[in-house]
Order: sequence, then structure tokens, then C-alpha cells
Amino acid sequence: MKKIAVAMAKGGVGKTTTAVNLAHGLAESGKRVLLIDCDTQGQVVKFLGVKPKYSLYEFVKGHDDKGNIIPKNEVAEMARKNLWVIDGGLKLVELKHWLGEQPREVRQTILKNELVPKAGTLDYLIFDCSPGWDVLSVNILMAVEDVICPVALQGPAVEGLKTFFTYLLSAQKINKSLQLKYILPTLFDKRTRQSFEIFKQLKKMFPREVCEPIHYNVRLSEAPSYGKTIFEYRKKAIGAADYKKLIRRIAEDGK
Ligand SMILES: Nc1ncnc2c1ncn2[C@@H]1O[C@H](COP(=O)(O)OP(=O)(O)OP(=O)(O)O)[C@@H](O)[C@H]1O
Ligand SMILES: [Mg+2]
Repeated sequence: MKKIAVAMAKGGVGKTTTAVNLAHGLAESGKRVLLIDCDTQGQVVKFLGVKPKYSLYEFVKGHDDKGNIIPKNEVAEMARKNLWVIDGGLKLVELKHWLGEQPREVRQTILKNELVPKAGTLDYLIFDCSPGWDVLSVNILMAVEDVICPVALQGPAVEGLKTFFTYLLSAQKINKSLQLKYILPTLFDKRTRQSFEIFKQLKKMFPREVCEPIHYNVRLSEAPSYGKTIFEYRKKAIGAADYKKLIRRIAEDGK
């Protein structure tokens, strides 16, 4: 099983768009995928048009607010064939607070220890991270091996990546198998010179990690309003073709 975090401290760079479309694309290719929303915005379930009863809060704590026991397999909701989802949302504010109160020596690995799927049941665990950096972000980076870092090809993109790098380095001191495996250029706009310049700069800095860019594609931004992934909404859109390339690369690496 591959455990992948879609993470980047900067907001609005395409983390959720990437996590959802990657998860669905892998599921469509026959892989069994669990997608976990680790953001208080709770966007993943909206992107997929489902409404799970429980969230990561109940999954980690094992009970609801009233103390009723909630079995872990009841928290993950089947969103599509081969694709299950664990919701994020406002309950994660409480979860982060609780994590922060746990003893220092166990605090960072609680998620990793709670998330142990039965052998052979899943092929991919994908985490959609929130922007910023907090106790839950650290928990995610303790629970995965690979990180996909979306970088928007606009504004001070490289500076944002450098900041995120310092966070990653501190996590790698504890989780030795953690690697920044993919740098995914997003919001690639052929009309702007800036897009080409940042892309070139990224390729020079990270020749192995940089993936083919995801174009700015209005269909990608429309699909979530219908609760659909790009493969359901407009499978012929350039955004679908771009994400297919990423899925192929990740599936190849998983062989
Ligand atoms: N390639 C793209 N082309 C056009 N719009 C996009 C693209 N990728 C993402 N978007 C849109 O940009 C906005 C931000 O994307 P998304 O929510 O995936 O970013 P995020 O990094 O998860 O944001 P946050 O940090 O707030 O969680 C959304 O409205 C999304 O639909
Ligand atoms: Mg997001």
C-alpha cells in the first residue's frame, strides 16, 4: 500500500483538486483508494458530492461527542467504486486541540497508529492536507512515505516551496522514509510568461521530482460545484488529460 500526502503550506494551489482527481483516477483504474480530508474546510466531500455521517475526528478518537463508540469501518464512506473517503470539516478543530494536549512523545504519531488498514484491503491512502502547518500536518507526514507538493505557477511560488521545505526537513528527521516525491506545477497558464519561467526554474531545481504541469482549466474549477471529478464532468478536458498523466506516473512508480 502506498501512502501519499498532497501537501503544501501555501493555500489555493490545487491540493484538494489534485487529491480528489488523483484518488478517483486511481480508483477508476481498479485500485482501492482511501482519501482522507485533513482540512477544517471539509472540501473533499463537497468535491465528491457525498455526505458522510462521521469524520476523521471520530476515526481517530473512536467515539463521537456523546461518547458513543464508532467503529472505524463506519467512518469511511464509499464515494465511488473502489473509492472511500474520510471527511474533514470543523470537527478537526477539536481534533487538533485534542492532539495538541497529548503527551509530546506520542502526539505526532497518533494518526499513523490509528490508521492501520487490514493487509490487502487498500492500494492507496491519500491525504488532502490543509494549508499552513500544525499538529495534524505533522501527524500526516509521520503517516506517509511520499509527498506530492502542488506549486502554482504564479506569484512567489518558489518562496512558498522553500518555506514548505523547512517543514518537510523537520518531519524527515523523525520519519526517515518520508520523501518529497512529486512537485506538481499547477495553474499553468500558457498566456503568461511567468508560468513558463517558474516551470523552468522548478525543472532546474528539481529535475527528478517535477511532473508535467496541470494547465489552468476552467473545467477543473467547475466540476466541484456538481460534486463531480473531472473524469465525470468533462473527461475530454485538458485538465482530465493532465491528471491522467500524473496518475500514470504514480501508478508506474507503485509497480
Ligand atoms: N488547474 C486548475 N485550473 C483552474 N482552476 C483550478 C485548478 N486547480 C484548482 N483550481 C481551482 O482553484 C481553487 C483552489 O483549488 P484547491 O481548492 O484545489 O486548492 P487548495 O490548495 O486545496 O486550497 P486550500 O489551501 O484552501 O485547501 C478552487 O476553486 C479550484 O477549483
Ligand atoms: Mg484544499
